[in-house]
Amino acid sequence: MHLYGTQQVNDNGQLLIGGVKATELVASYGTPLYVYDVALVRERARGFLNTFQHHGVRAQVAYASKAFSSVAMFQLVEEEGLSLDVVSGGELYTAVVADFPRERIHFHGNNKSTEELMFALNERIGCFVVDNFHELDRLEQLTRERNQTISILLRVTPGVEAHTHDYILTGQEDSKFGFDLKNGQAEEALSRALQVPTFEVLGIHSHIGSQIFETTGFSVAAHTLLKALYEWRETYGFQARVLNLGGGFGIRYTKEDEPIPPAEYVNEMVEVIKSFCGSHSMQIPEVWIEPGRSLVGDAGTTLYTIGSQKDIPNVRRYIAVDGGMSDNLRPALYDARYEACVANKLHDQTEQTVSIAGKCCESGDMLIWDIPLPKVEAGDVLAVFCTGAYGYSMANNYNRIPRPPVIFVENGHHQLVVKREVYEDLVRQDQPYVQMTTHTGK
Ligand code: LLP
Repeated sequence: MHLYGTQQVNDNGQLLIGGVKATELVASYGTPLYVYDVALVRERARGFLNTFQHHGVRAQVAYASKAFSSVAMFQLVEEEGLSLDVVSGGELYTAVVADFPRERIHFHGNNKSTEELMFALNERIGCFVVDNFHELDRLEQLTRERNQTISILLRVTPGVEAHTHDYILTGQEDSKFGFDLKNGQAEEALSRALQVPTFEVLGIHSHIGSQIFETTGFSVAAHTLLKALYEWRETYGFQARVLNLGGGFGIRYTKEDEPIPPAEYVNEMVEVIKSFCGSHSMQIPEVWIEPGRSLVGDAGTTLYTIGSQKDIPNVRRYIAVDGGMSDNLRPALYDARYEACVANKLHDQTEQTVSIAGKCCESGDMLIWDIPLPKVEAGDVLAVFCTGAYGYSMANNYNRIPRPPVIFVENGHHQLVVKREVYEDLVRQDQPYVQMTTHTGK
């Protein structure tokens, strides 16, 4: 079994995370429960920052907060010196509540509403990543009206396809995101942006996909963007100060995944940038990246309580847990694979292959197919690894299941950072039905 971060197994076959027994956490907070290994988040954050520092390249590492947004998480990444990528008014609001330094907030999104833009303008955030012509126009109008200067990056699609699941491909030409480089829209966006006196155009951005295991996509993207910047310097005298290469660094979910150390992505990017800039006598821009999954993915573990079992002789044994697609949509949405263990029986012999079912009213609500486990009974604790990214953030109330709490663990301490929803939360926005017309039918 592969353990992550500070996870350990004690002499009694119990799983510990951050020095705390999983069963103790379950006793304190109940299940399902998202547990974050704070030390591992710190290690990942420092890994990225230190690599840039080692190369002597100015950089911002912006946590892609869509992976897991909460006030405490934002405070943690702030403490580690990261910047923050937000993609909605809601994520921005969370950042404001966390009192995240506004100048280190970058605002993404392909359809930011006027209300969201106004919110960000009022907060004087560090950078708008402009996605399309509509947004360019809206921002021009709003900043002129307010007589407010803003920093922008233009999001471009460099035509790079990263090897990953189709749904999480965003850098290729046929994408809802960004200005296309090949068809000239990116250049048109730049020439328009440069004429707007309230815009400070910092540079360009690309994000080529997610859960990527090779550096090639990033070096091709970096090279393509630098080539464009070189041409634009010749045409417009534009000197980019920032090159943002997005996120997407892959992590290990199962033994089939072979991630490369996060530092290698940075090494490769820096090498390409330094060599291109050297040979084209360009200033080395500040490099920004936006890791989400690789900062929090393997730091998160979900604990469930095992409940019912259904054995179909010679077919399959289903083992049901008290959560499912309501707290982890990824298996249902992307066929995502996970590994798991019985957190209170780690020394028991593995003796069966079972499938882990969620409790939602849907056959597709399966968390893991065909996993070897020891004999289990109701009340045992199942730990599903690597649920830290896009787990809680994509959790939902399907079947009116309350969303689980989130806790942080570190050095033998634990702390509640998001409370468990209760039934009252589920009907909080509901309004009673009032008859609007008289009708006689039964
Ligand atoms: N920057 C931009 C502009 C992005 O669109 C994304 C992710 C990231 C950074 C962070 O990517 P990461 O480092 O986390 O791979 N829900 C999907 C992932 C969607 C990713 C969307 N954009 C999943 O559960 O796999």
